[in-house]
Amino acid sequence: MRSDYDIESAEYLMQGLTVFQSHLMAPTEETHCYRLWQLMGEPTNGHVVDMGCGVGSFAHFLKQFAPELEFTCVTDSEYQIEAMDRMNAPCTPVLADFRNVKPLADACADILTYNESLGYAPLQETLPEASRLLKKGGRLFIKDYARLSRWCPAEREWEYRFFWASEIIHEAERHGLVCQQFVRPASSYERYEKFYNASAVMQQRHPQCECDLTAAFYSFTKE
Ligand SMILES: C[S@@+](CC[C@H](N)C(=O)[O-])C[C@H]1O[C@@H](n2cnc3c(N)ncnc32)[C@H](O)[C@@H]1O
Repeated sequence: MRSDYDIESAEYLMQGLTVFQSHLMAPTEETHCYRLWQLMGEPTNGHVVDMGCGVGSFAHFLKQFAPELEFTCVTDSEYQIEAMDRMNAPCTPVLADFRNVKPLADACADILTYNESLGYAPLQETLPEASRLLKKGGRLFIKDYARLSRWCPAEREWEYRFFWASEIIHEAERHGLVCQQFVRPASSYERYEKFYNASAVMQQRHPQCECDLTAAFYSFTKE
């Protein structure tokens, strides 16, 4: 399995970034993750499967707020699996395509999260797997982007699907995931621009850093 993140992860880590998200809702990685945890309703226990987990930093911070949460972190990047090992990430790492996480059993998750990772595959391929993994009554949380118009310059630069909120909600509901909340929290792209401007590798791989988007957060319950 080869992932763009086998190359790009080292760029983030070299600049001290461990949360690989472009839009932060608070000034630091820790306070940003705290904000995410608040949006999730501050869960204190259960099995969380983090789909497209980066180097496990979300698990690292959430374990500080809620030590009883147990994390399985899924990524398609071998580099990230090795980094989680090196960094002692408090989770079980799984190398897999999140469209089909074979090692994980049906209904194994209380909580499933996608933090800026859902757009790496079509919703028709990700959401059935999300629904399979979640227990009845389990929660799905998605931190993504709110597409604001048909004209979306970011789409030309990033191999990412910038979904409309209605697409996500409609497709999730087809798989028994009922939308409880959709918000567009205030967020900043400043940290990411700074990172991009200091990385020759990122500039070479993505010649523009345009972003006409804002953060979006969704909560669903599995019926
Ligand atoms: C923008 S990064 C976000 C990382 C992490 N959620 C965070 O907040 O630090 C996207 C992540 O999705 C992973 N990813 C992309 N496509 C994937 C796929 N098909 N299966 C599993 N992971 C995938 C990448 O390897 C990377 O870890």
